[in-house]
Amino acid sequence: MSKNPVVAVVGATGAVGREILDTLARRDFPHTEIRALASSRSAGTTVDFGNRSLTVQELTENSFAGVDLALFSAGGATSEKFAPLAVKAGCVVVDNSSAWRMDPTVPLVVPEVNPHDLEWHKGIVANPNCSTIQLVVALKPLHDVARIQRVVVSTYQAVSGTGQKAITELETQVRQLFNGQDVENTVYPHRIAFNCLPQIDVFLDNEYTKEEMKMVQETTKIMGDESIRVTATTVRVPVFYGHSESVNIETEKKLTSKEARAILSQAPGIRVYDNPSEKMYPMPIVAAGEDETFVGRIREDESIANGLNMFVVADNIRKGAALNTVQIAELLLLKDLLRVA
Ligand code: A2P
Repeated sequence: MSKNPVVAVVGATGAVGREILDTLARRDFPHTEIRALASSRSAGTTVDFGNRSLTVQELTENSFAGVDLALFSAGGATSEKFAPLAVKAGCVVVDNSSAWRMDPTVPLVVPEVNPHDLEWHKGIVANPNCSTIQLVVALKPLHDVARIQRVVVSTYQAVSGTGQKAITELETQVRQLFNGQDVENTVYPHRIAFNCLPQIDVFLDNEYTKEEMKMVQETTKIMGDESIRVTATTVRVPVFYGHSESVNIETEKKLTSKEARAILSQAPGIRVYDNPSEKMYPMPIVAAGEDETFVGRIREDESIANGLNMFVVADNIRKGAALNTVQIAELLLLKDLLRVA
C-alpha cells in the first residue's frame, strides 16, 4: 500500500492488547493512526502507546471505517462477531483468539515457520495459541533436518495467558495466604497460588483439555505436515509471565544433542541457553520481557533410537501473543498483502 496503514488494536486495555501497543511502538511500526478499541466499560480511559496516551474508544460495528489493519485480542466471541465486519469494511485482521485458527480458509502463522501461508489470506490471519507458537519455533529447524515423527510436550503455563483477571487473582491469593485469610478463586476452578492445575480450558470428549488439543491440531497445521504425531499435557502454574515446555521429539534421522544445539543456534527467533555446568537453562524469569524463544536442557533421549529432550521457554505475552501478531503485521506490510482478496 502506498500510505502507512491506519491500525486498530481491539482489546487495547487487556494484557495482550497493551503489549501489542507497546510492541508496535517499540518496533516503530509504520502507521498513519492507531486506534485503541475495547468494550464500553473502558471507553474514555487511556492506554499508553510509546510516550503518548491514546483514548480508548468503544468497539462498535462502525469502528473499522478507514482502518487498514486490525489486531484483535478481545476473546473468541468478539472476534467471531467483529472480525468479519472488519474484513467487510476492507480491513485485514490478525486475530489472537481461537475463533478462526482451525478454519481451513484462514492461515495460522508463525513468521519463523510458515510465512508463505500469509500469501493466501482472505482477510483474516490467525495468531496461534501461545504454547503452540514457542513449540513450533523450536521444532521447525529440527524437522527440516531430521523429520520429526512424534512430539510429547508437557507445559508449565503462566497465569498471564488467561488475561489480566488471572494475574490479579494470583497476586490476591498470595496476599490472602500470607495474611492468613480465606482464599477466593473466581478465574480458575481451584486455587492457583502455590499450586499446579492440570486443566487449561475445558475438558473434551476424548478426556484431553481444549488447550491440549489446540497444541496437537495447530502444530500440524502450522508445520504443514499432518504426519507429525503430537500429544500434550498442559498445566497452569503460579508464574506471572513465561510459559515453559518439556519437549520430547522422535526423529526419522538421528540427531545428536550437539547437532541439535548447532541447528537451533542458527535458527531465527531462538536463543540456545544451555550450559548446565553453569546452571544455565531457560526459565520464565530469564525469558520474561524478551522476544526470543529460549531452548536448553538439550539432551538425547536414551530410551529410544532417535530421540531428543529439550526445555523451551518464551514470554507468552510477547512471542506467544503480541510479538507474533506484530511480526505477522510487519510481514503483511512487507509483502504488500495488506488488502482483502
Ligand atoms: P475491557 O477492558 O473494556 O473489558 P484480557 O484478556 O486481559 O482480559 O483483556 C481482554 C480485552 O478484551 C480487554 O481489552 C477488554 O476490554 C476487551 N473486551 C472484552 N470483551 C469485549 C467486547 N465485548 N467488546 C470489546 N472489547 C472487549
